[in-house]
Amino acid sequence: MSSQKTYKIAVIPGDGTGPEVINEGLKVFKAVTAAEAIKYDLVHYDLGGERYKKTGDILPDSVLAELRKFDAIYLGAIGHPDVKPGILEKGLLLRLRFELDQYINLRPVKLYPNVPCPLKDKTPKDIDFVVVRENTEGLYTGAGGVLKKGTPDEVATQESINTRKGVERCLRYAFQYAQKRAKDKKLTLCGKTNVLTYAFDLWERTFHELAREYADIKTDYAHVDATCMWMVKNPEWFDVIVTDNMFGDIITDLGAMIQGGMGIAAGGNINPEGVSMFEPIGGSAPKYTGQNVINPLAAICAAGMMLETLGEEKAGKRVEAAVIKLLESGKLKSLDAGKMGMSTSQIGDWLAANI
Ligand code: IPM
Ligand code: MN
Repeated sequence: MSSQKTYKIAVIPGDGTGPEVINEGLKVFKAVTAAEAIKYDLVHYDLGGERYKKTGDILPDSVLAELRKFDAIYLGAIGHPDVKPGILEKGLLLRLRFELDQYINLRPVKLYPNVPCPLKDKTPKDIDFVVVRENTEGLYTGAGGVLKKGTPDEVATQESINTRKGVERCLRYAFQYAQKRAKDKKLTLCGKTNVLTYAFDLWERTFHELAREYADIKTDYAHVDATCMWMVKNPEWFDVIVTDNMFGDIITDLGAMIQGGMGIAAGGNINPEGVSMFEPIGGSAPKYTGQNVINPLAAICAAGMMLETLGEEKAGKRVEAAVIKLLESGKLKSLDAGKMGMSTSQIGDWLAANI
């Protein structure tokens, strides 16, 4: 029997297909928490493009203050076709990551059985690693500016902010994650020390310093461009990869593709000492909205990660096991929206019944 704690979970279904996939994630969440006698309270928030269009609110301070009091946040997708790109992403998703100091973005790249992989001859034993992406610094802080906008003399700068504290806490998390994961006990720093000689010098020095404290972890280094190459050619070389915010954003889209697509890629925005937020890493896919054809597996896996991070490891594993069972059953024809051979809600129903 799990602890008697009642988890307070905020649900932000968001835009586009977000609400549909969150619905299925909650179906599975309800099934597994019932089976494991886990208690919870869910509170829904209507943040996203629709609310912004109606009221101009993106993330009111009062809502942010409420969100700070939850144990976790379960997020669908942010991004609305009628809202200029950047407004909701910065005002909602990035603001939540920053304000809640979710300094880790944890993105497993795992090829499950029976999932078509675009890499020739690669099987589930070859693709099973985790990217630890720094989530509050780098190019994402908004540092920089513009001069003489709209003129031929326009100057635009966008600065990568890397602090010793931010780098160290991210690296420390990655070392400890490699220890806990106990796969190859290997941590690869992904950077660009040959060009970004200030930022990645800080990363590299801190990495080697910490490595002495984690003597059981093998360390390795790869430039980000080479990392992309190895992810395609020899993904089996990776166990845990740690990297900055921008590189982590880019390589995890590549990671999602080699594990079968956005339909199955989940991530956690983690503050180990605070409120973490879990989401499918794909976008709001507006063109599929309301058709019951979007793949909810990424959102369902995100719910599993949420349970695991809350300390309900057994429940988290049961969600993953059910997903694997569904994939092994061959019932799903594809992981891509509109081609699955099962509807969004049928997938959630099947998993909830087979948990
Ligand atoms: C992601 C997304 C976001 C990011 C966007 C929507 C701001 O691409 O979660 O990877 O760049 O972090
Ligand atoms: Mn991204």
